Amino acid sequence: MSRLHVRAGRLADLGALEAIEVACFTPDQQSTRRALRLSLSSPCQSVLVAVYPDGEKNRVIGAAIVHKHLRRMRLYSIGVLPSFQGRNAGGLLMDRVMECASSSGPPEIILECDESNRNLVEWYERLGFRVFRLLPNYYGTDRHALRMSQKFSICPAKRLVTMPPENLLDRVIRGAPECR
Ligand SMILES: CC(C)(COP(=O)(O)OP(=O)(O)OC[C@H]1O[C@@H](n2cnc3c(N)ncnc32)[C@H](O)[C@@H]1OP(=O)(O)O)[C@@H](O)C(=O)NCCC(=O)NCCS
Repeated sequence: MSRLHVRAGRLADLGALEAIEVACFTPDQQSTRRALRLSLSSPCQSVLVAVYPDGEKNRVIGAAIVHKHLRRMRLYSIGVLPSFQGRNAGGLLMDRVMECASSSGPPEIILECDESNRNLVEWYERLGFRVFRLLPNYYGTDRHALRMSQKFSICPAKRLVTMPPENLLDRVIRGAPECR
C-alpha cells in the first residue's frame, strides 16, 4: 500500500516494535522484547501497527497494543516514532481500535493516561474518551493517572463495511476466546 496505513502486527515487526518502545516511553514503561512477542502471539491481545511507505520499503512507525477482556478492551499502549508524530498515525491507530470495539466488541475501551500530560488527555477527549477515575501514584510517587473510557453501540452492519476479510486483526478479535 502506498500510503500511511494500519495493519495487524506480526512477528517480523518485533524489532520495529522494540524501537518504538525505546523512542516513545521511559525505561520503566517500556515493554520488553519478550512481552512484545507475547502480545503478538496471545489470542487475548492485539497489536496494530502504523506503516509508512518509505521509498521501496514500508516502515513500521507506530503501534497500539490492546488487551481484550470479557466486557471491555484496554488500550495498553500507543506510540508513534517522534519524527513521525503529528501526521495522524496515532489517529489512524485509534480509529482502528475504536472500529474494532464498535463492530465486534467488547463495546467499551478503557485506558490509563498520565494526568500531567494535558495534550494527551485532550487528544483522547477529542477522540471521545471521558475521564472516570483518578489513580493516585499509578506511575510512581506523585505520578498520577487518569482512567478514561469510551463506550460503543455494537453495529453489526458496520462490521461488514469496516473490517475487510483479509484483516488479521478481524480474525484475532472475533476468533479469540474471551479473556478475563
Ligand atoms: C500520543 C501519540 C501516540 C499520538 O500520535 P500522533 O501520530 O502524533 O497522533 P496524531 O498525528 O493523530 O496527532 C495527535 C494530536 O497531537 C498533535 N501532535 C502530536 N505530536 C505532535 C508533534 N510532534 N508535532 C505536532 N503536533 C503533534 C497533533 O496536532 C494532534 O492534534 P489534533 O488531533 O488536534 O490535530 C504520540 O504523540 C506518542 O507516541 N506519544 C508518546 C507516547 C505516549 O505518550 N503514548 C500514550 C500513552 S501509552
